[in-house]
Amino acid sequence: MCGIVGYAGENSALSVILESLKTLEYRGYDSAGISVLGSGIETYKSVGRIANLEAIIPNEISGNIGIGHTRWASHGRPNTVNSHPHNSGSPCKISVVHNGIIENYMALKDQLIAEGYEFKSETDTEVIAHLLHKHIYERPDGNVAKCDLLTGLRKTLKELEGSYALGVLCADEQGKLALARKNSPLVIGLGKGENFAASDVTAFLNYTRDVIFVNNFETAILTPTSVEIFDGEGKVREKKIERIEWDFEAAEKAGYEHFMLKEIHEQVSAIHNTLAGKVSELEGTISLDELNMSDEEIRKLSRVQILACGTSWHAGMLGKYLFEQLAGIHCDIDICSEYRYRSPVMNNGTFAIAITQSGETADTLAAVREIMSYNCPTLAITNVVGSTITREANSVLYTRAGPEIGVAATKTFSSQLTLLYLLAVKFALARGKLSPNHVKEFIMDLRKVPGQIQQILDQKETVKEYAEIFAQAKSYFFLGRNLNFPIALEGALKLKEISYLHAEGFAAGELKHGPIALLEKDTPVVIIATKGQTYERVLSNIKEVKARDATVIAIANSDDTEIGKYADFILTIPESNELLSPLLSVVVLQLLAYYTALARGCSIDKPRNLAKSVTVE
Ligand code: G6P
Repeated sequence: MCGIVGYAGENSALSVILESLKTLEYRGYDSAGISVLGSGIETYKSVGRIANLEAIIPNEISGNIGIGHTRWASHGRPNTVNSHPHNSGSPCKISVVHNGIIENYMALKDQLIAEGYEFKSETDTEVIAHLLHKHIYERPDGNVAKCDLLTGLRKTLKELEGSYALGVLCADEQGKLALARKNSPLVIGLGKGENFAASDVTAFLNYTRDVIFVNNFETAILTPTSVEIFDGEGKVREKKIERIEWDFEAAEKAGYEHFMLKEIHEQVSAIHNTLAGKVSELEGTISLDELNMSDEEIRKLSRVQILACGTSWHAGMLGKYLFEQLAGIHCDIDICSEYRYRSPVMNNGTFAIAITQSGETADTLAAVREIMSYNCPTLAITNVVGSTITREANSVLYTRAGPEIGVAATKTFSSQLTLLYLLAVKFALARGKLSPNHVKEFIMDLRKVPGQIQQILDQKETVKEYAEIFAQAKSYFFLGRNLNFPIALEGALKLKEISYLHAEGFAAGELKHGPIALLEKDTPVVIIATKGQTYERVLSNIKEVKARDATVIAIANSDDTEIGKYADFILTIPESNELLSPLLSVVVLQLLAYYTALARGCSIDKPRNLAKSVTVE
């Protein structure tokens, strides 16, 4: 997730863009950049926060049209060269800022290099700048425009696969800023003698509250006095002007009351982004080039060792089930703070996976150093490009969930799970445990998950209602079997973290070996009872709980006609592939924790005593 801004007006573009960018820093701030169109295009970029950028820009820079970017790296390290804007032409003819992911950038890059374009950065975005140049100026050394900016933009968009919100300047189109959108947010602000564009309205709320939301496949041309919007065919579109009534803080959360609720909702796009460019349902293949491992090398492995802490440890636990059940490879999961001190026995053929959303957790880094001291190939799964773990592990897979501000992890967890599904299926394919046909079906089911999460989010009022009923409970219990056991642990952790209620997660079969003594009349017990191989056993566990007069809140599939006979309250998830249902159940549990904390008046985004990233051992 990055933030883009654009300005076309009577004032100096520089100060407006810098000010707007600062409000978008919550979308990422590993580097920033700006281009201003005056007599030519001038570009300035810097690593770090907007203040660093501000410090290197000369005061006399002039121009009334401009674009800016604050970056959350997804392709290429956070450094000055990889920062946006990306330019093409000498002297610079085209300048581009981009939020999104271009999935086919490798193929486009090869083609552009063959045509003579020189690439400076490791980013996917640079292909857009050169493609625009190619369509408008025809050759890498072309300096005379052969078509206008809008025509060139439309030709370019036809070649792009993936997601984008784009701001584009062209040296030969004075007074104009071009925009385009597909699956990344983009909004236009309407002022007097000036118009604005940004990833969200916070960027220009100090200037105007009249906005037009740009839809997928629309393009736009902004000048200081006009806004023209075109549909995918290039026909002018009449758009509704909306008035924003939110205050600044609410706007930063896109209207959600808390970042956590926003991030729960963002799981729909986060999973989509995690999958982008990695799966092909046509061929039944999983592409994880970053793994740097051939099928032959995967076949030679005898064991997977996962290392993680907190919520990431729960993701790793589910990973163990997936590696063993899908790929038939032995898998261990360890809490990092324990791993180092238990004198682990290292087997030949062990492959290590460290999971950490921040990439900075001290215990995880220490465990990685320990396992790497045995020359064990180590993969990091993280959300933060350039974080410490990315410099230490042998290979890195990024979750691409965008910055997570709420301390309680939500979208990073489901993105970690998504990568673990892909890894386990890739291992299963390489080891002959799944056929390409099975993988095709699995990928099709995985592609349905974001839509299924949306269905759950659409029913969040029911979760809220139940959360309010039990908000003053003394203790809460969460039970699950098999793949749902780690999800039960995660449900309990989420509730503890943000509502400060005592909550425990157990393997449902373990209930009778001790935890059942804790059940009292009306204790809420959340039981994940989705269809699958342990369903009947889970129904027996529900009966055990009911016999102690506790209250059962079941998470069940929407087509389950049996569960109503046993559970007191039911929260449904759509029917799905059994293996993938944890990705759905966890969303219900995140919402339950959120609404419980809300009903108890807790500080949801910054819970007491907790930190987003724990950098001490
Ligand atoms: C902290 C956070 C947890 C997180 C854990 C591991 O305790 O509060 O939400 O799960 O660290 O963080 P990591 O960044 O390594 O995933």
